[in-house]
Formats: sequence, structure tokens, C-alpha cells
Amino acid sequence: MSVTLEAQLIAWRRELHQYPELSNHEYATSERIRGWLADAGIRLPDYPVSTGVIAEIGSGEPLIALRADIDALPIHEATGLGYRSRHEGVMHACGHDMHSAVMLGAALLLKAQESQLPGRVRLLFQPGEENCTGARQFINAGALNGVQAIFGMHNEPGLPTGTFATRAGAFYANADRFVIRVEGKGAHAAHPEQGVDAIVIASQIIQALQALTSRSFNTLDSLVLSITRIDGGKSWNVLPGVVEFGGTARTHDFQVRAQLEARVRRVVESVAAGAGAHATLSWHPGPPVLINDSHWANFSSEVARQCGYTVQTADLHLGGEDFAIYLQQIAGAFVSIGSGSEYGLHHGGFNPDEALIAPAANYFARLASQALR
Ligand code: NI
Repeated sequence: MSVTLEAQLIAWRRELHQYPELSNHEYATSERIRGWLADAGIRLPDYPVSTGVIAEIGSGEPLIALRADIDALPIHEATGLGYRSRHEGVMHACGHDMHSAVMLGAALLLKAQESQLPGRVRLLFQPGEENCTGARQFINAGALNGVQAIFGMHNEPGLPTGTFATRAGAFYANADRFVIRVEGKGAHAAHPEQGVDAIVIASQIIQALQALTSRSFNTLDSLVLSITRIDGGKSWNVLPGVVEFGGTARTHDFQVRAQLEARVRRVVESVAAGAGAHATLSWHPGPPVLINDSHWANFSSEVARQCGYTVQTADLHLGGEDFAIYLQQIAGAFVSIGSGSEYGLHHGGFNPDEALIAPAANYFARLASQALR
């Protein structure tokens, strides 16, 4: 890749970084991406989407898709960089600006060899990854129509730049959210016997859930349940009638997920009933487990080796990723590329290494053209 192209990609990434937009509000981001692609003479077929951009290079069959996500997070940026976010309280803290720059670079490289491509590459600049709405929107808009295989990436701050990792089969987790509501009976704090103490019952449920995950599942099942929020009570001398708390559950298997939900529900209802209270569980499925096709995962690693990456087999990842929804429809592979940041994803100090952009752009251009062959 030429120095000027690399400099261009970094400049685009910084521009996206300075003007981050939240999920499903990526209007200016989409406008910028559309403009850069159009200036390069790349086709932008019309799809019924309100944000996000879909581009196409080459002609005929087969058809391969490359996907980048484009949304940012409600996080205050604390990097102190010259090109830090100009949108107060919004930050590209997951590196989707990096992913966008990578796929813009892949698009330009593929455009330069368009006449030799034995098929078509469709590039999906997808909105709404963080709230798990974008992949479904794109699929409903027809973005996968005719696509034979799809590829995407996430930067991995824990891996050094120049390192690549993926795995066949389950990779990212079922990333679910749940809310538990305990309804007791409020009372004066000096007279708990006149009420039903929702705080004590909530704490019993939380303890029971931790014992449930450690005692009721096979140690080898990948499973984590964290309570991240408790809300109840406003005063020092009143026992609240209601406590609500919630968190997230991560699994890598649909059966384990279903068993977990059923057992959590049983614990919640029975602990509360035993104490004379009533409790309910609402379970909100997030992105499903991401399952890489083994052929395409191995193929992705092989192309990474050819491109000079240090290639590893990835561990199971406990994050959620809505790319999983594409992989429920068609085969493909999702990969991790090292971004060597001291601070991790979704942290105000997250600062990925821009040196990953040019090699990764090169990689995805090569991956797509080899996949077509
Ligand atoms: Ni992300």
C-alpha cells in the first residue's frame, strides 16, 4: 500500500473519530463514507436504510461481503488526543472508526483491481452494532441477497499490532441482558416485621444466582452471569417495597443459555416466594453466539499468514457482536486484529494503534479477491 493511501485512511479515521455518532444516528458518518466512496468512483446501490452505506465493486458472481460497523458509544473521551471527539459525551471507544477506515481502504484497493475481480465484493458499512439492531436492519434491507460468504473484524486491544486471531465454531457469546424485580412490602426501618424486606430478598437472590452458576452447570460450560445494577430505596429509615436489579449473562451454547434462563427464573421466583414476596425475571436476548464457519475461519487465517500477520487461535470471547446475525444466515468468518491499546474497549482512554489500518485494509482486499477465486 502506498504511503499516501495509508495517510488518507488515517486522516479519514481521525475525521470519523472527531465526529462520532450513536447507534442508528450515524447520519453524518454515513454521508462522509458515501462521499469518500463516490469520489473513488465506487458504486453505491440504493437500499432502504436510514443510516449506513452499502457499496459494490466488480461484477457478476460469486458475491462476497465485507462488513464494518460505524457507530460510537455514549462515553466521554479521556485520551487528550488532538483529534479527540468533538461531540461531548460520545466517543468511538470500540474502534468502529478503525473498522470503517480498514474497509474504506479495502474498497479502494479492490476498486484499483476491479477489472480483474472474478466476481463482486459488497461492502457493508453497518449502523447500530452496539445496540444490536444494525445487522437485522441490513438483512431486512436485502444487504445479504446473493452473498455467498461474509467477513468482518474487530480490533483487539489486548493483542499487539500485527497479530491476528480467529477460531472455527463458537467465538463471541450469547450476550443477554436481564432485569429482576422484587416486590415486597415497604415499612418503617424500625419495624421490618410490618413489611416484606425487598432489599434482603434481592440480596438472597443475588447470592443464590452466583451459587447457581458455579454449582449447577458443568465447569467446562462457558458461562458468566454478572449483576451490574441494583436500584431500591431512597432513604435511611424506610424499607422500600420494591427493588429492581439486573445484569448480563454470557454463554456460547443455545442449550446452556436456555437452561440458564430457566434456572434463574426458578431461583428468582422461589427465593421470593419463600420470603413472602413476589419477583419477576425479564430476559432480553442480545446478539446470539457468533459461529464461524470452519472452512472460512481457516481460510481467513491462511490469508493472514500470507499477509505477514502473527496468526493465533482465538480464545472464546465473552463479548457480544451482532455480526453473529449475518452468520446465522450465511457462512463466513469474523476475525480479531491486534490494536495494542493500553485501555480496553468501551473505556474513555481507549486509543488503538493506527498502524493496524493499512495492513488490515490490504488483508481484507486480499481476502475478498481470494475468496472470489
Ligand atoms: Ni465493537
